[in-house]
Amino acid sequence: MLSARSRDRPGSRGGADSTRPTWLGGLVGGAAERWAELQSGRGIPPEILARAEHDPWHHDATYFVPPEVPADTPSRAAGLALLHTPGSVLDVGCGGGDAAFALVERAIRVTGVDRQQDMLDVFTATARSRGVAFRTVLGPWPDAAEQAGPADVVVSHHVLHNVVDLPPFLLALTAAARRGVVVEMLGQHPMAWLDPLWERFHGLHRPPPATTDDAVAVLGELGIEPTVTWWERRSPPRQDPVWVTRRLCLPSDRVPEVDAALDELVRPRVAATVAWHP
Ligand SMILES: C[S@@+](CC[C@H](N)C(=O)[O-])C[C@H]1O[C@@H](n2cnc3c(N)ncnc32)[C@H](O)[C@@H]1O
Repeated sequence: MLSARSRDRPGSRGGADSTRPTWLGGLVGGAAERWAELQSGRGIPPEILARAEHDPWHHDATYFVPPEVPADTPSRAAGLALLHTPGSVLDVGCGGGDAAFALVERAIRVTGVDRQQDMLDVFTATARSRGVAFRTVLGPWPDAAEQAGPADVVVSHHVLHNVVDLPPFLLALTAAARRGVVVEMLGQHPMAWLDPLWERFHGLHRPPPATTDDAVAVLGELGIEPTVTWWERRSPPRQDPVWVTRRLCLPSDRVPEVDAALDELVRPRVAATVAWHP
């Protein structure tokens, strides 16, 4: 039922998604290739995807409303340190703007870039309700970089694991930042903890996921040596079984089974703040 897919959705197998990135074979080395292969390994076989009732890659914007009081994390601290004097913030893959709105006390303007309009709608509503000067840009990064323009601080939280072709994404973050870039990501692909459910419901064995260390190795190949701070996120709420059922490309009548299976899994909490200067 579903066929449309994006190049940057690791779920891709076949079609345009399987096109090997143009930088392979010389421009960038093995770490970028390893990242692309690990990310491509997160794919959903076409025969499973064809039975999906909903887009398994779609993020529900209602889950991404930023909290009134931002979490006090190393990522926020790194962003505020770069805003030692107030400056502009560009949030790439902003969702509802959790990363940007955590910095508003020292941000003179926030720009949100996302490929989903409903995420930008949440970003817009939050900026208006909090009286923050803002702009939004709809489109995939790095294609949207030109329209977004530069900013003093560039933040991108929980987006890298959506990306297959990582060097252009990282280079565009770096080029957009006047003072620094702050990336936040989980220690490994955020959906890897659901791998036992792919085995259980589809008999699909998942290869190992990409990790923060893999992303840092790609940065190294680009000549960027970031500061990496490891930390633990607060316990996330239990994952919505309806969303997981969709992610697994299962029909809605399987929700109770998925719900029960989730009780046997532990959602990882290890996160990393990866920051660097342009
Ligand atoms: C897991 S959410 C994280 C949202 C937000 N940064 C946060 O931490 O709450 C990932 C977001 O990145 C967006 N996204 C993924 N790849 C993107 C790309 N290449 N360009 C723009 N947005 C992207 C998705 O639409 C989604 O809103």
